[in-house]
Amino acid sequence: MTDSPKDTLFNVDYVPEDFVFNERVVEVFDDMLDRSIPFYQEVIKASAQLLDTFLTPGDTVYDLGCATATSLLLFSRLLDHKKLHFIGLDNSGPMLDKARLKAELYSKQDSLSFALEDITAFDHQGAGGIILHYTLQFIRPLQRQAFLTRLFDNLRPGGVLLISEKVISHDRRLNREYIANYHQYKKSRGYSELEIAKKREALENVLIPFSVEENQAMLGKAGFTSVETYFRWFNFASFVALKPV
Ligand SMILES: C[S@@+](CC[C@H](N)C(=O)[O-])C[C@H]1O[C@@H](n2cnc3c(N)ncnc32)[C@H](O)[C@@H]1O
Repeated sequence: MTDSPKDTLFNVDYVPEDFVFNERVVEVFDDMLDRSIPFYQEVIKASAQLLDTFLTPGDTVYDLGCATATSLLLFSRLLDHKKLHFIGLDNSGPMLDKARLKAELYSKQDSLSFALEDITAFDHQGAGGIILHYTLQFIRPLQRQAFLTRLFDNLRPGGVLLISEKVISHDRRLNREYIANYHQYKKSRGYSELEIAKKREALENVLIPFSVEENQAMLGKAGFTSVETYFRWFNFASFVALKPV
């Protein structure tokens, strides 16, 4: 679903600055997402299946770090029968401008709304579902536990949290090979070795992945009693966490 300009941001010969979600990124973001996140559509479909199972009609679902609403548009199409209210939150104005434009383009203004917010201050009591896809990795590591506990506190009993992340392995050899596989994937999607290396450099201090076990431990400590992975591909994983009824 993308006619976004091609992502050539890291086709440069200078040392890039730390990655930020600014206007230049927003312009090419949909193409970046499409070529950088393995099995993105499958993850959204599996996520929609879980929301369908655990949510009740009329529930409100928050998408934290909704970016340009690519996944929200898919969710609202796949879960149309469920009559859910979707609210996308992001702290990037340009991302939300594009999200609103896309919602309008696909005539989804009635089921989707957006708000400019810092998700670490999330305060929406009674949420039925919270989606946190490829965004926890950008929250400062020292803030993550308190942030997940805050999300647990805001969910209604029986509510569901879905998280997708880049992950690391503590086995150094496997970690190296998983990353190499991912870079091979990006090459197969048309990125050059130079672009891959420059992007990696720009993300180094900004995107800090944890292991599957570390993410699960944080979710348990936050109060979630049912925690499982529902997708895994080398250094990418998705987690479902249920708040007890
Ligand atoms: C990789 S993108 C997320 C992609 C999106 N969830 C999806 O699946 O299509 C990360 C997004 O999180 C947003 N973000 C990062 N930190 C944030 C914060 N503290 N509060 C709100 N949004 C944040 C960025 O602006 C960006 O749009």
